[in-house]
Amino acid sequence: MKITNGTIWRDTDGNVLHAHGGYIIKHGGVYYWYGENRLENFYVDCYCSEDLVNWTFRNHVLTADSRTENSRVRADLRLRNEEGGKVNIERPKVLYDRKAGRFVMWMHYENGKDYHCAAAAVATCDTPDGDFVYHGSFNPYGEMSRDCTLFEDGNRAYFLSASRDNADMHMYLLQEDLMNVERLAASFWQGEYREAPALVKKDDFYYIFSSFCTGWAPNQGKYARTDCLEKGFGLQKEIGDETTYRSQPAFILKVEGSETTSYIYVGDRWDGKDYHNSRYVWFPLEFGEDGQVRLIECGELEIDAQTGKIGY
Ligand code: GAL
Repeated sequence: MKITNGTIWRDTDGNVLHAHGGYIIKHGGVYYWYGENRLENFYVDCYCSEDLVNWTFRNHVLTADSRTENSRVRADLRLRNEEGGKVNIERPKVLYDRKAGRFVMWMHYENGKDYHCAAAAVATCDTPDGDFVYHGSFNPYGEMSRDCTLFEDGNRAYFLSASRDNADMHMYLLQEDLMNVERLAASFWQGEYREAPALVKKDDFYYIFSSFCTGWAPNQGKYARTDCLEKGFGLQKEIGDETTYRSQPAFILKVEGSETTSYIYVGDRWDGKDYHNSRYVWFPLEFGEDGQVRLIECGELEIDAQTGKIGY
């Protein structure tokens, strides 16, 4: 089964698939894709699939009218701004807390008018695709927090976000219940202005991919690797071309099949003039023995979720 990069994708009902700046998790043998939908009162949509090609719409899991509930973290619970307009919820990522049996979403929050809040926000749900309850936005340890991602490493998880007006990357260890940051575990790329972080672990190394800061316009992607997350990531190397093949990282999808494990770079091809016309690209990542990583631009990507094999 194939996907065609850069075209309008539709769900199994024939509707345009809106899951921008998103994330995919696998739960109970099913893949769940979360991402931004900025139409109507929606913030985050969820789709499910067993083959990674056909996606069924499940729910508008977070909207401007979602239920809100305080957690122990003092936070701003507003899902609309003072004018009643929508706020911005960007780059939603979800992990499963096995102990509590609950799904925890982290995202980037802004007031819908400018980018000065630079806050992180959290929501939870007992099922992957139910109505998430919103627990508000806050600045972790008072820091700015914009483009973000989550990364699970064994039984702990990290939240990464661009801080200090995007100048530096912060990586926070999350508390065990995923509901708060525990401590700043690393900060790296001081003054390098990297956005859209996306991580994956392969063999003994952690790889991180990111973009530079140019708003909706694509730019040169870079990657770096480390053998210990809390050491942070050092020197970056370029990946793809000067526009990362007209994309910005959303996340890295690891497809673990019966025969092999494949790595797919999922990128957003934003339409800066018409956000809703933004597209997705799924490109294979090839890892060399020497630590080099290659991003392969392709028009079509064949995926066999059973075996884990991909082709282009
Ligand atoms: C990008 C960022 C997106 C969105 C956009 C707004 O740099 O990665 O998530 O915030 O800017 O201009």
